Amino acid sequence: MTTTNTPVDTRGPIDDTVRAAIRSMPKAELHLHIEGTLEPELALRLARRNGVTLPWNDLSTLRQQYDFSNLQSFLDLYYQLMAVLKTADDFRDLMLDYLAHAAADGVRHAEIFFDPQVHMGNGIALDTVMDGLLEGLRIGRERYGITGGLIVCIVRDMPVESAQALIEQIAPRVHDLIGIGLDSAEVGYPPSLFTEVFAKARAMGLHAVAHAGEEGPADYVIQALDLLHVERIDHGCHAADDDALVARLCAARIPLTMCPLSNLRLKVVADLHDLPIRRYLDAGATITINSDDPAYFGGYIADNYQALYDTGYSLQDLASWARTSLSASFIDDARRQSMLEEFEAWQRRHCEL
Ligand code: ADE
Ligand code: ZN
Repeated sequence: MTTTNTPVDTRGPIDDTVRAAIRSMPKAELHLHIEGTLEPELALRLARRNGVTLPWNDLSTLRQQYDFSNLQSFLDLYYQLMAVLKTADDFRDLMLDYLAHAAADGVRHAEIFFDPQVHMGNGIALDTVMDGLLEGLRIGRERYGITGGLIVCIVRDMPVESAQALIEQIAPRVHDLIGIGLDSAEVGYPPSLFTEVFAKARAMGLHAVAHAGEEGPADYVIQALDLLHVERIDHGCHAADDDALVARLCAARIPLTMCPLSNLRLKVVADLHDLPIRRYLDAGATITINSDDPAYFGGYIADNYQALYDTGYSLQDLASWARTSLSASFIDDARRQSMLEEFEAWQRRHCEL
């Protein structure tokens, strides 16, 4: 990945006014795995409640597992802890805990990934998972005014037949979904494997997104665009290795849903300055900032915004990403308009900063 010229930060420590402004900025979260919001405390509580035996019984031993060397080392823990989620109430509670964090961070709309193939592998019915998550979203909308929806993710390192079976299983509930995504271990599992799966899902009316260029090469981003016909790229860090691809992403206004703390914790980059964000901004790319798996990576969405502020980006840069996240959401025009109005009101209140 090409390193970039981020501004040198001479502003000193962030003050409370800026911190509060970042948190209250109306924003959408477009790259969030609900299973990645499972905090270790909740994982242990659910393990006890559901009689699931984990290799770690206490918080301090469990917390020692969160030092990741790459994507796979994180996925190993992430999939193991998912075994504690058993009932619709567990999924509802997980969603509500996330939405409480999201509300405190100024999230007005959230498009949320989930991994049904893994839950079904744990013996949980698709309906149990979806009913719980949708109930959480419904309560969260009443409680916090946050709109949202579910994006069903294909686990790309499971057999392609399993993905094909999932598409058949979701068909009766397609009205409860907004999109299809592609996640999990990337290298060795190119988007081309899932061309037919995505074609079927799109024919059902689902929006299409895919993780690409997180650890995998720029070519996977190209495949996601050409073969899966995605409307957004999740991560897209390695797109920066291909100038023509960056130009294409800009021209086609394909949003990249970036997740800085995730990329740092999974060692996609050694330092946040190494992310190609400034390069993308200078080129005119459409980017949004998200939290990916906040319970694992040390921060929810506002922490990700703040980490970039601390790296030297301005409050105006952050505000432009928040505005972009509202524009890049899969929502109807009326909801988009009302969120953009909220955003303009925030901007008027904070124009002196
Ligand atoms: N599943 C959950 N988090 C992920 C990530 N960062 N990349 C790929 N798959 C994931
Ligand atoms: Zn992700």
